Amino acid sequence: VVDIGKLYAQTGMFTYDPGFTSTAACESKITYIDGDEGVLLYRGYPIEQLAEHGDFLETCYLLLYGELPTPAQKADFDYRVTRHTMVHDQMQRFFQGFRRDAHPMAVMVASVGALSAFYHDSTDITDEKQRMIASMRMIAKMPTLAAMAYKYTIGQPFIYPKNDLDYTSNFLRMCFAVPCEEYQANPVLSRALDRIFILHADHEQNASTSTVRLAGSSGANPFACIAAGIACLWGPAHGGANEAALKMLEEIGKPERVGEYVAKAKDKNDPFRLMGFGHRVYKNYDPRARIMAKTTHEVLNELGIKDDPLLDVAMELEQIALKDEYFIEKKLYPNIDFYSGITLKAMGFPTSMFTVLFALARTVGWIGQWAEMIEDPSQKIGRPRQLYVGPSKREYVSIAQRG
Ligand code: ACO
Repeated sequence: VVDIGKLYAQTGMFTYDPGFTSTAACESKITYIDGDEGVLLYRGYPIEQLAEHGDFLETCYLLLYGELPTPAQKADFDYRVTRHTMVHDQMQRFFQGFRRDAHPMAVMVASVGALSAFYHDSTDITDEKQRMIASMRMIAKMPTLAAMAYKYTIGQPFIYPKNDLDYTSNFLRMCFAVPCEEYQANPVLSRALDRIFILHADHEQNASTSTVRLAGSSGANPFACIAAGIACLWGPAHGGANEAALKMLEEIGKPERVGEYVAKAKDKNDPFRLMGFGHRVYKNYDPRARIMAKTTHEVLNELGIKDDPLLDVAMELEQIALKDEYFIEKKLYPNIDFYSGITLKAMGFPTSMFTVLFALARTVGWIGQWAEMIEDPSQKIGRPRQLYVGPSKREYVSIAQRG
């Protein structure tokens, strides 16, 4: 590892690294990825064990504080999150300003950014207590805002949080309950969604997390930083890939057409890519994709869906791609987004909500990374350099003398 900052101070040399493929911008103790071996650890714990045995709020605690909670710590943390699930009543009027057909991610970017206008008392980043309250507020309010974004687009009234429920069942209720009718979340689906949240909770310095850190490095308030992360996540090469992957599977339609799409993905003259395939860091099977595939089967089984054409297409696509020279040579494997869309669709979420659910879960990772940066005394404002390739110095010509 070369400290380029020191090298620059001594020699004026700096690196040119588009996409930051080989540049570390920070030290972090939160998440470890071994992309060649397909390993993902949160604070040292394998993702497989956390997904199998833990719950999402326990993962939140681990990511934020570095250790798994004791029962008393867990109860206290759950209580603190629960206390903050309501949003300011005036937020409802803020929502009314959006068109009904607005993409819920657009609503999320705006409404999370707007939290800084509603909760001034937790925007001073120099005050540790305010930072903690802002963190709790965001983890707690994301499900409420996400459900409101959904309810608004389908024209149904907002459902208030019911805080004797667990985090994920409460969210499912806010999305799918309707007034005057009893609603109870299916425990199998609730557990599956909770696991999906665990899988998405953090992933070290991906594009949206780096965006949050960069925004935060200027001293911007945490709500504004998380809104920046949500905006970045929306892109189809990042969090938007789950929506794009499902659309692709629907477009393929039947297993017999998979070959045609694999050929398109390999064609250098065709910009088409297999959505849900490939990863900047994983050059092996994404460990989250494996857990996600298992979760997909559990959810479809619970819902009694025996033959899901999308699952048939996905499985055929995976089989063909994994044996194909092109995908083997480029080390392209299914990523977490490949199966998540099928699962979320079966649970009743429309495609436009997929990235919203990702943002909900990733909020804790963004906050943890943001807090780690704020607490790091060596932290500087992020300021990438550039390789200037424009014209060299030239003289101004008055408009009358041009043309
Ligand atoms: N289908 C076909 N070919 C692909 C794919 C794909 N999905 N992904 C990469 N390749 C090819 C590229 O064409 C390139 O080929 P070349 O070497 O002949 O030029 C090579 O593999 C390397 O690709 P890059 O784009 O340079 O790799 P990078 O690390 O920058 O990209 C990315 C990673 C963006 C995820 C890419 O694999 C991709 O676009 N995948 C589809 C979108 C997707 O699923 N995104 C979700 C990522 S996971 C997440 O955000 C939670």
